[in-house]
Formats: sequence, structure tokens, C-alpha cells
Amino acid sequence: MVYDTTEHYNRLAGRYDENWAHRPDYVAWMAGRTAEWLRPSPGERMMDLGSGTGLFLREMVKSAAPDTPILCVDPFQSMLDQVPDDPRYRTICASAEDVAEGKVPLPYDKLDVIACKETIHHVRDIAGTLASLARMMNPGGRILLVSLVPRLEYPIFQAALDRFEENQPNPEGMRRDMEAAGLRAELAYEEWPVTVDRDEYIELVRRQWMSVLSTFSKEEIEEGVKEIRQRYSAGSISFKDRFAFVYGVKP
Ligand SMILES: C[S@@+](CC[C@H](N)C(=O)[O-])C[C@H]1O[C@@H](n2cnc3c(N)ncnc32)[C@H](O)[C@@H]1O
Repeated sequence: MVYDTTEHYNRLAGRYDENWAHRPDYVAWMAGRTAEWLRPSPGERMMDLGSGTGLFLREMVKSAAPDTPILCVDPFQSMLDQVPDDPRYRTICASAEDVAEGKVPLPYDKLDVIACKETIHHVRDIAGTLASLARMMNPGGRILLVSLVPRLEYPIFQAALDRFEENQPNPEGMRRDMEAAGLRAELAYEEWPVTVDRDEYIELVRRQWMSVLSTFSKEEIEEGVKEIRQRYSAGSISFKDRFAFVYGVKP
């Protein structure tokens, strides 16, 4: 099931980047890993599907230029309004489906590089969307889906972990979808260690910073907070942030 995220992202947009402000090393790592997988070169046509605020594009944008800007595609204008005011970014308000179905045309005939980080779980028809994207790629073009693994280790409450897992697409399934779309595909897992203060984390949970948390009522969130307090004592909590990197190359 793909849930409606309109309220979630419009509420979050103005403060989205703040949710990562306490983890600058993570943002730098993820921005670097995305660029290392995709290896963009100057002059290549790049798109970030579900770019949000563009927070993780700091490395990729170094290969962009005002005449070949990186296309930041996102269905929520409130998110795109936070993209840096820099001519190397060009925002396009559209969903992945709008782009894949050709409802919103892109300024590039073909694409060389497509990033899609923590967005694919919002897409209804993943296989169909990947097939369309593959047709939009130049030979040698690369696509990277970065997706949280279905079974998270996050210190959130059990019902949220379970609901997240139910809705999160299977990474191996997405790798197969890429192969079926005619790409050479591979799947790798990478993780980043996280240490957070329990009570600061509880505030993030109360702010419902993950879209799955926005599917719970305020009362359910408070019940969840009680559970987190029971499970973890005050002070630091350490866990791993684990991501699937599903990478495809067009032969
Ligand atoms: C978790 S955020 C990730 C944003 C950004 N890629 C990042 O890593 O910071 C998910 C993004 O997907 C966007 N989104 C939601 N539904 C989408 C859809 N159907 N197609 C493309 N993007 C979508 C949201 O607006 C949001 O910006």
C-alpha cells in the first residue's frame, strides 16, 4: 500500500533539512556515496526523482552546470521551494509516475544519470515506472535507487516498525524489476552507524518525521513514545541506518 503523503510533506517541507542538521557526517556520507555509485560527468543529463529539498545532491551538483542543470523532480512544491537557489538545479513539480508516463515532459530528450533516494516506496507501480525510466536513459546511463531496508533497527515503536516493513518495497524485487527493464542491475547494502540521544529522538518521533509515523494519530504516537521510553533508558542509543542501493546501467 502507498499512503497519501500530501499532508506529511507539506507539513515537513520548511523544516525538512533540520531533521538532518544534527547528522552532518551522515549527510556528507550519503551525498558522497550517491555520487560515487552514479559517477556523473560534466555535461551529462541528470535527474533526481523525489529530490525533496535537494539536501543529498551536494556532490552530484558539482557535475552540473547552468546549461545542464540537475533536474529536481518532486510532486510537492513546498519541498522544491527549499532547493538551493543555484542555476545548477532546476526544479520540476511532478511525481515519478507523471514523468514516467510522459504527462510532464522533461527538458532533456534522454537522461544519463537518475538518482532516487528514499522515494521509491511512494511510487505505486515500481516495475512499470522503472521500465519507463529505462527507456528514457541513454546507453551507458545509470540509475540508483537508495532505499531503507524493510526491517529497520530504528528505536521507534513496534507498530511503526511493522507498518514500515509492510509498505517498504523489497530490494531484490527492485533489482529484478531493473533487469526486466533491460538494465544490468546490482544490489548492495551499506550502513551508517547512528548514535542519538533518546529524548531528542522522541522529539523527532513526535514531529512524525518519517512518513510512516504520519499514518499514526497523535494519541497513537504518545502510546508509542511510552513504549520507546520503556524499551530504551535515557541517554545515548546506538543503531545502524541500513540502506539498499539498487543500481542499474543501460547497456
Ligand atoms: C523521504 S523524502 C526523500 C527526499 C530526498 N530524496 C532526500 O533524500 O532528502 C521522499 C520524497 O519523495 C517525494 N514523493 C512523494 N511521492 C512521490 C512520487 N509519487 N513521485 C516522486 N516523488 C515523490 C516527497 O515529496 C519527498 O520529497
